[in-house]
Amino acid sequence: MRQGNDHVLTLDLSGLPDNQASPLLFATAQRLGLGQCIQVQIDRDPHTLLRAVSFQLREAISWSVQGAEEHWQAEIRPRVEAEARDVVDLLTWDHYRLDRQFADVLAAANANRVQEAQEIFSDYWIGLRRHVHMENHILGPVLGGGEKKGPLADMLFEHQSLIDQSRIVEETFQEQDYAMLPAICAVLSGSLAKHENREENTLFPIWQAANNQDKLRAQEFLQETKELLAGKQDHRVREFFPD
Ligand SMILES: [Fe+2]
Ligand SMILES: [Fe+2]
Repeated sequence: MRQGNDHVLTLDLSGLPDNQASPLLFATAQRLGLGQCIQVQIDRDPHTLLRAVSFQLREAISWSVQGAEEHWQAEIRPRVEAEARDVVDLLTWDHYRLDRQFADVLAAANANRVQEAQEIFSDYWIGLRRHVHMENHILGPVLGGGEKKGPLADMLFEHQSLIDQSRIVEETFQEQDYAMLPAICAVLSGSLAKHENREENTLFPIWQAANNQDKLRAQEFLQETKELLAGKQDHRVREFFPD
């Protein structure tokens, strides 16, 4: 895989049989974020391959294909980019992505692949701060949910704990103190999953109802969240949550 810029990943699968092309495409597509796309070159019609990989990814990708004979190109994007109905849809998808990234950090840490763990972690770390910034500072104050007592208050409290725990992981990488890494990652991975589940079940229904009351604002939130999760407000995000 070659990374031309932040947003376009290119992958040449020409000459690879499906049993090699498929895991390669799966691994690349699994990390695809909002605003990113994969451009695939391949020497045969890729539709079957794409459908198989999409199935493995719980239909998380959409694509366009062009080509003929032995020259084909496919462009793959997160399906949610075109199809998210509202901001809650988008954040739910982002939970799934953050979870998966953190599971990958944990797997790499357990296998002692420290550099890979660190690379995936740094993606996760900025991703988590974007997500929390959106929820804490943009959606929470408008869509509510009980800032003093209620699902919103719980959410704010848990976010602080997730940020603090992630910082400990970051420090572990910086200090190259890897012995505790799998244990710390395992705890954080559990906290993350529990938080997301609770948020989706208690706060998101309240947000969805409040969001639906103003269609224009809902469209603006959706657009802003897409841009923010794609990294367009990272300077703001880092003001609240420095590196
Ligand atoms: Fe969330
Ligand atoms: Fe959250």
